[in-house]
Amino acid sequence: MESTTADWVSETRFGKWFLSTETWYREVLSVALREMREIAGPSMPPIRRLLDVGCGQGRSFELLAERFRPREIVAVDIDPLMVRIARDTAGRCAVPVTVMQGSVKKLDLADGSVDAIVCHQLIHHCSQQAQVLSELFRVLAPGGMLLLGESCEEFIDTWSVRWFFRHPPGVQHSADEYVRMVRDAGFGVAPRDIRTSTPWWSLWEFGILRRYGLVRSPLPVTELLLLARKS
Ligand SMILES: C[S@@+](CC[C@H](N)C(=O)[O-])C[C@H]1O[C@@H](n2cnc3c(N)ncnc32)[C@H](O)[C@@H]1O
Repeated sequence: MESTTADWVSETRFGKWFLSTETWYREVLSVALREMREIAGPSMPPIRRLLDVGCGQGRSFELLAERFRPREIVAVDIDPLMVRIARDTAGRCAVPVTVMQGSVKKLDLADGSVDAIVCHQLIHHCSQQAQVLSELFRVLAPGGMLLLGESCEEFIDTWSVRWFFRHPPGVQHSADEYVRMVRDAGFGVAPRDIRTSTPWWSLWEFGILRRYGLVRSPLPVTELLLLARKS
């Protein structure tokens, strides 16, 4: 289904297909969730209910079950096609997964009702990002953690991304700006819980020309991972 509403710019067919590829699974999603687990550290408190916002096709579910050991996963996505695929995927997960259709801007969840939130590559798809972060703060229980993975404007605002994918215009941010927005929503973010990077897939020439010295400009920060806490 292709659609655009006030708070949703529907992804291109290519973008939706890309979420089903091995490249997305291995090079983007698995790497991000592994690093999020590292940032959470060895003494992570037990998680009863984990929220996966903007869950896409649900390819994260099994990884979240393995790495974070929640008793249940609640997942939300706005795109009916993604929700349909994610529901199929949920049936194969080792822990119970409930997939809901809706916007992250207004979640059908009670205040403080989840212990952890994984928000992977969603915020740059949203036009009202401050409101989204406030909503995540609302549903998170005190003491809970938000694990955020985002692509920054240095990647999203390149011609190749603009050509193949769709994002709301004029709302893309740098890593520093995203960190500030997360803190402004009320979360605490320790400097040690912030990681920035420039993976090969976020460079327009995939790092090939750079390897041969044909591109020498400074590496931009294109990706952000962080752990934020609600006290
Ligand atoms: C880049 S995909 C990431 C999917 C998944 N987190 C993953 O890493 O495989 C972004 C997802 O966010 C969803 N999305 C976009 N705007 C949304 C909104 N306002 N509320 C909920 N989901 C949204 C899209 O439908 C899409 O599935």
